Amino acid sequence: MAFVNIAIDGPAGAGKSSLSKAVSAALGYIYVDTGALYRAVGLFMLRSGIDPKDADAVCASLGGVRVTLRFVDGQQRVFLADEDVSDAIRTPEASMAASDVSAFPPVRDFLFSLQRDIAAANNCIMDGRDIGTVVLPDAQVKVFLTASAETRAERRCKELAEKGMPTPFEDVLADIVQRDYNDSHRAIAPLRQADDAVLLDTSDLDFDAALAALMDIIKERVQ
Ligand code: DC
Repeated sequence: MAFVNIAIDGPAGAGKSSLSKAVSAALGYIYVDTGALYRAVGLFMLRSGIDPKDADAVCASLGGVRVTLRFVDGQQRVFLADEDVSDAIRTPEASMAASDVSAFPPVRDFLFSLQRDIAAANNCIMDGRDIGTVVLPDAQVKVFLTASAETRAERRCKELAEKGMPTPFEDVLADIVQRDYNDSHRAIAPLRQADDAVLLDTSDLDFDAALAALMDIIKERVQ
């Protein structure tokens, strides 16, 4: 049986995760947040006292990383060994560590088959940076979701405040600009729009309008 795969790529804070979650609920697909995998690897390094920027040390310790995804009612939880780290991976430190470790080819190889295997066995909407370009080049639907850095920083600030982690706008914006730069300038699997992806800019769209636009793109391609 062939499963439907929807690939959503774009920079941090473009709305990938909230929109993908809404699509997954509407279509009954699982939602796979691949950033959580890189965050889990980053968190593992921080907890092990390993500098996430130290390629040799990070790659040498990958053998000890046991990262898995589990789906409960279509909701993804990410585990390091037997610990559910779904909340622990959301701190600014884990974000930056994820961005750092994601630049190393062995880390990307390490997470590649995990992502591919899930997509081969499920109808899914998967979001990340290289899903349409590298992980699922044959996905039926590819969308590159973006928004201005300021819009994305505003959204992230709101999200962090709602989660009880209020953070100054300037810090969030600086973090987003730095991560955009890291993610699009790394040598391997940089953030870029796949040639056959549809560009959706949500800077001037509220959530409902963005969701409607995304659902239209999907419906045109999936019967
Ligand atoms: O989407 P996110 O903010 O949770 O992603 C965390 C980091 O992981 C991000 O800085 C880039 C990296 N990442 C990646 O390189 N490839 C992916 N498919 C997903 C995330």
